[in-house]
Amino acid sequence: MTPAALDVERVVCRLSDLDELGSRAFTIGTGDWPLRGLVVRVGEGVRGYVNCCPHARHPLNLLPHRFLTPDGSLIVCCSHGALFEKLTGWCVAGPCAGRYLRAVPLQIEAGFVLLAPEADVAALADADFYAGGSATDGAEARADIEAGNDDSPQGQ
Ligand code: FES
Repeated sequence: MTPAALDVERVVCRLSDLDELGSRAFTIGTGDWPLRGLVVRVGEGVRGYVNCCPHARHPLNLLPHRFLTPDGSLIVCCSHGALFEKLTGWCVAGPCAGRYLRAVPLQIEAGFVLLAPEADVAALADADFYAGGSATDGAEARADIEAGNDDSPQGQ
């Protein structure tokens, strides 16, 4: 697919935008509740999550596009220090340990990161999502890791 053929409404960023920091914020949609998300590089692929911490529903970052620990191995919430796996969004430590970031389905086309066709922007942008419980989108990938069957990063 050529860049000219991409659906610009679904473009999250260029894949190369992740080279410097390994993460990037994005906003898709309009109105009072657009989808605010983050994308992280995982190997040759990417993972996307809603930019909302399951602890107190704060945005994860304080500085633009900075979502990772200094060594780049984990996603960190700047509010109270929760740490999340990049591959699954699972909280490994902090006040929401055991919960998950809400996954945003992504794909890579022609050097761009895009929302996957199945991504429901309105549902992902629902501000009340975490009020009813924790996302479990990454639970299957987490189970694969624990079973020794590593999940391939999406978007490869
Ligand atoms: S809001 Fe993220 S750790 Fe508290």
